[in-house]
Amino acid sequence: MWTANTERYADILPGVNDTADNLLNSIKTGHEEVAPSTVFAVASILENTPFINGSPQNTFVPGALQLAEQRNAFIGGDDFKSGQTKMKSALVDFLINAGIKLTSIASYNHLGNNDGKNLSSQKQFRSKEISKSNVVDDMVAANQILYEKDEHPDHTVVIKYLPAVGDNKRALDEYYAEIFMGGHQTISLFNICEDSLLASPLIIDLVLIAEMMTRISWKADGAEEYKGFHSVLSVLSYMLKAPLTPPGTPVVNSLNKQRSALTNIFRACVGLQPESEMTLEHKLF
Ligand SMILES: NC(=O)c1ccc[n+]([C@@H]2O[C@H](COP(=O)([O-])OP(=O)(O)OC[C@H]3O[C@@H](n4cnc5c(N)ncnc54)[C@H](O)[C@@H]3O)[C@@H](O)[C@H]2O)c1
Repeated sequence: MWTANTERYADILPGVNDTADNLLNSIKTGHEEVAPSTVFAVASILENTPFINGSPQNTFVPGALQLAEQRNAFIGGDDFKSGQTKMKSALVDFLINAGIKLTSIASYNHLGNNDGKNLSSQKQFRSKEISKSNVVDDMVAANQILYEKDEHPDHTVVIKYLPAVGDNKRALDEYYAEIFMGGHQTISLFNICEDSLLASPLIIDLVLIAEMMTRISWKADGAEEYKGFHSVLSVLSYMLKAPLTPPGTPVVNSLNKQRSALTNIFRACVGLQPESEMTLEHKLF
């Protein structure tokens, strides 16, 4: 589990980190574009031990992803979903599904811990800005009644370092939306949370679930062989801000859907049907 400092984004360079072989070679020669977190990730992949990236940067460069797939080693990422983004991925899903058209989301944070200090450097901040910014995209794109193709709310994320507040991170969010007959709604949130105490349970859950996934195999009806999950463990998305998914598969950011996926996979493991909220037993007599 990478819970060390946020790193800057690594450039994806042909011949350096674009394929598994090139990446292994670049590590051997100490190429400067290979981040420390990627070295840890590759070491874990080579040991066939799950590796989870709790920070926002692109630890899983294409070469690392390819190596994980080749070795059937589990990887998960990126960036713990602890505070502001967790609220956002629940609230935005709820508002858009209720027909409330968000037109802008402005998110401000200030914090005074070492992470805040590190994020006051522009390159590291950019990693966080990217991981925080994409969280509404799939929910907007999925609603073709509210949003035209390629239309999306304005979305900005600001993070400032204020040593005095220490680990008690402040998050201020303004959600501005269009409602019925051209009316408007503004929702303003002010959230104070102890950063480390929000992250620590996620770290424990990520480790437990990733380990659990190493023990689950499955096969479709009629298939001969049991298989494991894809090496990119998208089932961990519930706890992650910018979920990594197997290439070519959709990213799901909605907290509700992510939780359902987890619940229903674990229900299947004990032989139960997926949870259905129809509750017909209370509706049909
Ligand atoms: N709520 C949260 O705390 C939260 C939520 C989401 C993401 N994150 C991410 O988790 C990461 C850690 O956050 P934090 O508040 O604990 O940061 P921190 O700065 O307090 O701690 C980072 C630690 O990593 C160590 N470190 C730096 N480079 C290292 C390396 N190459 N190898 C090993 N250790 C190294 C540092 O010495 C330091 O002790 C950050 O990327 C942060 O953005 C935290």
